[in-house]
Amino acid sequence: MHAALREIATHLDDADMRNVAAYYASLPAVQAATAKGAVESPYAHGHKLSAACVQCHGEDGNSTAPGIPSLAGQQPQYLVEAIQEYLKRERKAAPMHALLPGFTRLDMESLALYFASQTPATHASAPFGDPSAGEPLAAVCGGCHGAHGVSGDSATPNLAAQDATYLVDAIKAYRTTRKREKMRLYVTGLSDAQIRDIAAFYSVQKSQAAESGRTLVKDLTDRCDRCHNPGAEIAGMAVPKIHGQDRDYLVMALRAYRDGRRESSMMHNMSLPYSDSVIESLATAYASQPAK
Ligand code: HEC
Ligand code: HEC
Ligand code: HEC
Repeated sequence: MHAALREIATHLDDADMRNVAAYYASLPAVQAATAKGAVESPYAHGHKLSAACVQCHGEDGNSTAPGIPSLAGQQPQYLVEAIQEYLKRERKAAPMHALLPGFTRLDMESLALYFASQTPATHASAPFGDPSAGEPLAAVCGGCHGAHGVSGDSATPNLAAQDATYLVDAIKAYRTTRKREKMRLYVTGLSDAQIRDIAAFYSVQKSQAAESGRTLVKDLTDRCDRCHNPGAEIAGMAVPKIHGQDRDYLVMALRAYRDGRRESSMMHNMSLPYSDSVIESLATAYASQPAK
C-alpha cells in the first residue's frame, strides 16, 4: 500500500525488476543502525511494571488475599482484555482504576506476558465448599476452560488454582455486571452452594504457566529460522533476509501480516496473531543480529 513504491514499481518491466534486484543482492549486507540503545524486552518491562500490582496480587501474581485473583500463569490475551474492561468500566473494581489509565497497549501486553509466564502456586485445600461435589457441576465448563480448568485458548481464562473467594465473586458477577452472554448462560442456573462447590473444585486443581516469556522469543526465532536463516534453502520459496534488518521496519512488516494488510505466506498466517509485545521482541531480536 505504499503509494510512492507502487508508482515506481508500475513503471518497471520484468527485466528492470530483475536488474534492480540483482544490483541490491550484489551489495554487501548492512547492519541496521540499532544504536538507538538496547530496547528493553517486553518481559523485563512487564516485570518492572508488575511492582505496582504485587502488593495486592501477590509475589509473581500468586495472590494470598481472599477475593483478589491470582494472575500467575493466566492466559495472556485474557489478561489484556480484563485490563481493558476495567479501563472501559465494563468491570467494576475501584482499586484498579487509579493505576491503569496511564498504560499503553505495549505496557498492558508486557504485564500480561510477565504474569502469564509465572508459575501458579497450588492450594492444598479449599477454604469452603466441596471439591468433589463441584467436579461434576464443572463438567460443562470444561469445553471452554479445559477439563481441569487449564484453558487451551489464550483468551479464555484458566480457572485452576484461582483464589476460591474470587471465583465465587466472578461467577456471580456474570449475573449482574460482567456482560458475556456465553458465560451468563452457563452460570445463571447455579445455586450459591453449587457456585461454592465449583469454586472449591477449581481452586485445588493444578495450573501451569500459559506462556513462556523468558524463552518465548528464542522458541519463536528457532521456528522463523527454519526459513529465514540464510543457510536454509527452501525449494520454491524466496525468503527475505531479516537478520540485521531495521527494527522499525520489521515491526511494521510483522504487524501488517498480523493485521491482514500484507499478503503473506501460510506460515505467517499461522504464526501470527502475535501481540505487539511479541512482535517488538522478535523485531528487536532480529535487528540486533549481525546482517548475514
Ligand atoms: C489495591 C489492590 C490492587 C492493585 C494494586 C492491583 N489490583 Fe488488580 N485486582 C484487584 C482486585 C480486588 C481485583 C478483582 C476485581 C474484580 O472482581 O473484578 C483485581 C483484578 C485484576 C484483574 C482481573 C483478573 C481476572 O482473573 O479476571 C487483572 C487482569 C488485574 N487485576 C491486573 C492488575 C495489574 C496489571 C495491576 C498492576 C498494574 C493490578 N491489577 C493492581 C486489586 C488490585
Ligand atoms: C462457551 C465457553 C465457556 C463456557 C462453557 C464457560 N465459560 Fe467461563 N468464561 C469463558 C470466557 C470466554 C471467559 C472470559 C470472559 C470475560 O472476559 O469476561 C470466561 C470467564 C469465566 C470466569 C472469570 C474468570 C476470571 O478470572 O475472572 C469464570 C469464574 C468462569 N468463566 C467460570 C465458568 C464456569 C464455572 C463455567 C461452567 C459452569 C463456565 N465458566 C463455562 C467461556 C466459557
Ligand atoms: C515457512 C517459511 C517461513 C517461516 C517459518 C517464517 N517466514 Fe517470514 N517469510 C517467509 C517468506 C517466504 C517471506 C516472503 C513474503 C511472504 O511470503 O510472506 C517472509 C517474509 C517475512 C518478513 C518480511 C520481510 C521484508 O523484508 O519485508 C518478515 C519480517 C518475516 N518474514 C519475519 C518472520 C518471523 C519473525 C518469523 C517467525 C515468527 C517468520 N518470518 C517465519 C517465510 C517464512
